Amino acid sequence: MQDRYFGDYGGQFVPELLMPPLLELERAVKEILPSPEFQQEFKDMLRDCVGRPSAMTHCPNLSRDTGVDLWLKREDLNHTGAHKINNTLGQALLTRRMGKKTLLTETGAGMNGVATATAAAMLDLDCVVYMGAKDVERQSVNVRRMEILGARVVPVTSGTQTLKDAINEALRYWIATQKTTHYCFGTAAGPHPFPYLVREFQAVVGREARQQFLDRNGRLPHIVCACVGGGSNAIGAFHAFIPDGSVRLVGVEAAGTGEPGCYNSAPLNLGTDGVLHGMKTRLLQTPEGQILPSHSISAGLDYPGVGPEHSHLQAIHRAEYACINDEQALSAFLTLSRREGIIPALESAHAVAWILENAAALQGQSVLVNLSGRGDKDMDIVEEALRDPAFAHLAATLGGDA
Ligand SMILES: Cc1ncc(COP(=O)(O)O)c(C=O)c1O
Repeated sequence: MQDRYFGDYGGQFVPELLMPPLLELERAVKEILPSPEFQQEFKDMLRDCVGRPSAMTHCPNLSRDTGVDLWLKREDLNHTGAHKINNTLGQALLTRRMGKKTLLTETGAGMNGVATATAAAMLDLDCVVYMGAKDVERQSVNVRRMEILGARVVPVTSGTQTLKDAINEALRYWIATQKTTHYCFGTAAGPHPFPYLVREFQAVVGREARQQFLDRNGRLPHIVCACVGGGSNAIGAFHAFIPDGSVRLVGVEAAGTGEPGCYNSAPLNLGTDGVLHGMKTRLLQTPEGQILPSHSISAGLDYPGVGPEHSHLQAIHRAEYACINDEQALSAFLTLSRREGIIPALESAHAVAWILENAAALQGQSVLVNLSGRGDKDMDIVEEALRDPAFAHLAATLGGDA
């Protein structure tokens, strides 16, 4: 059986009523996941439905501009536009084999909701998506996509009305419906076995990228860099490289507005050890253990916790975690769009921004950035942000009246 902890982090800190479905899932993970039939079915779906392997793209213009040899792993080219589909298809296949009929999930940016609704439609499952009311508003295009795909989207009006609150409500719903419902957790966080399960489904990203980089360059990159919300795209990108001691692994958290004392989404940089959503991990919290509200311009990073494997990788110094604020992310969003013709998700723009901000120290190094998703969903947020006087200098670089 896989370990329930990553070093000191992880575990199953849940009410008793959640233990039966978690134990059932642990059994399924142990018995079904490693079977050659399941692995083959998953691989075939990734190829035929997701479009794997996803491309790895060199960025000639930005490499010239910055002096950093920049490569992107293109999860934005996946069906539905983000890495989330790797995990939801895997969990949907598992759900079918467990004999359940409903996929339940939470979503922040909406990409996990869209990916779960898509997998449910493909595999003839019902789909229920919990989403913070604030996120329903700021990611309205994805809400419409989920509904078109047949999902029921439930807005959550408690707390900060973002991802944390959506997870709370989804866990409650799971307690009541566990016999027929699988909770398709969208990131490498939560109680065991989710951090392990999601990592296993996302590890395809790093395996492909490692081979592609070797094939193109005859060596490994100096750095692999990815944004960190709950941590699924970053752990997926990092996993195959963990044994390669020469490769720096850099996760990028959201520093929000970046002012001292402001709300942010950077528990690995600014948090302390605690328990949330069934796991022990790094959290934004008061000294008394009350969870602090989080903030990021990107809905997908707006979470006060992080998957336990990242807390462990930080603790053993195998990965390092940096911070990028809203303005830097917005600037990188515009720069990648203009210089390479790729509009990234605001989440992924945080990882690109880390390269741009640190270019002077990275001269001549090869960096592989995991571009976790595309930016279509973020058009409204970017437009609104650029109307803010704080970002007037960025708006001034645009054509037209923006
Ligand atoms: C495009 C994209 N990237 C990154 C994330 C952050 O999640 P994770 O850290 O699990 O990859 C999200 C979450 O919604 C997302 O939509």
